[in-house]
Amino acid sequence: MIGELLGKGKTAEVFAWDTDLALKLFYRGHEDDARKEYENALCIQNLDIPVAKCYGKIEADHRMGILYERIDGSSSLELFLKEKNICGMAKQLAETHKTMLRCMGTGLPNYKDILQKNILRAQCIAEGEKQQILKILAELPSGDRLCHGDFHPDNLLYSNEAFWVIDFMNVACGHPVLDIARTVFLLKYVPAEGVEDTLRDALTTAYIKEMDMNVELLDRSLIVIAAARAGEMQHDEEECRVAMEYLQSNFLII
Ligand SMILES: Nc1ncnc2c1ncn2[C@@H]1O[C@H](COP(=O)(O)OP(=O)(O)O)[C@@H](O)[C@H]1O
Ligand SMILES: [Mg+2]
Repeated sequence: MIGELLGKGKTAEVFAWDTDLALKLFYRGHEDDARKEYENALCIQNLDIPVAKCYGKIEADHRMGILYERIDGSSSLELFLKEKNICGMAKQLAETHKTMLRCMGTGLPNYKDILQKNILRAQCIAEGEKQQILKILAELPSGDRLCHGDFHPDNLLYSNEAFWVIDFMNVACGHPVLDIARTVFLLKYVPAEGVEDTLRDALTTAYIKEMDMNVELLDRSLIVIAAARAGEMQHDEEECRVAMEYLQSNFLII
């Protein structure tokens, strides 16, 4: 049966369910998101990675829901804010991310296709610049790895001294640099409650060092990721402002 509210995001609320499950209950109107996340969750289920296992889908209160293994603990963001252990958190983020990125992403949506769709959707980017950014995207390596698509400390839960990945809505098949760039962008530029700029800068720098990715490739990917973010969040003024600010300082859009 449905229990206490464990957390919520833009598309769903998550409740305790029975003794050891969590129900991610999508808001009405987010049926496509629910279907997409369910398919993704099934696809990565049997890989050797620390993810909350999926136990099927149900309907409750005329809303679609996905049942997951419940991870009792805190998010790694909460842990980070409590301990402020920059090196430790960067190492943990990097280690978990690398574990995912070593897996093949066979059967998952193509990361570059998703980015292209979002870039085309971005109303705040002028047509000429959009075409230039799409050219950068086309020249990036495609890759065949399992990418999370939203790998940040709030989607990494900490329980019994282990870290567990949740939130599979944006899971995709692509090159690791795309997923690393997405994490860098989310860590450094997307506001997270209670995280000061100096702390987020330090964590981002330490994470980048741990991931040891080619800097030039990462910078090109960041332009693409920022542009796609502007399309993905086009109804969120602050998110668009942040993405455009990045593009203006790094890609010279007038
Ligand atoms: N399997 C789980 N066990 C325990 N809590 C969870 C679980 N999945 C999600 N949560 C809680 O619900 C919150 C939102 O879930 P998430 O899947 O990240 O949704 P969204 O896509 O809206 O970000 C998480 O930050 C976490 O606090
Ligand atoms: Mg989430």
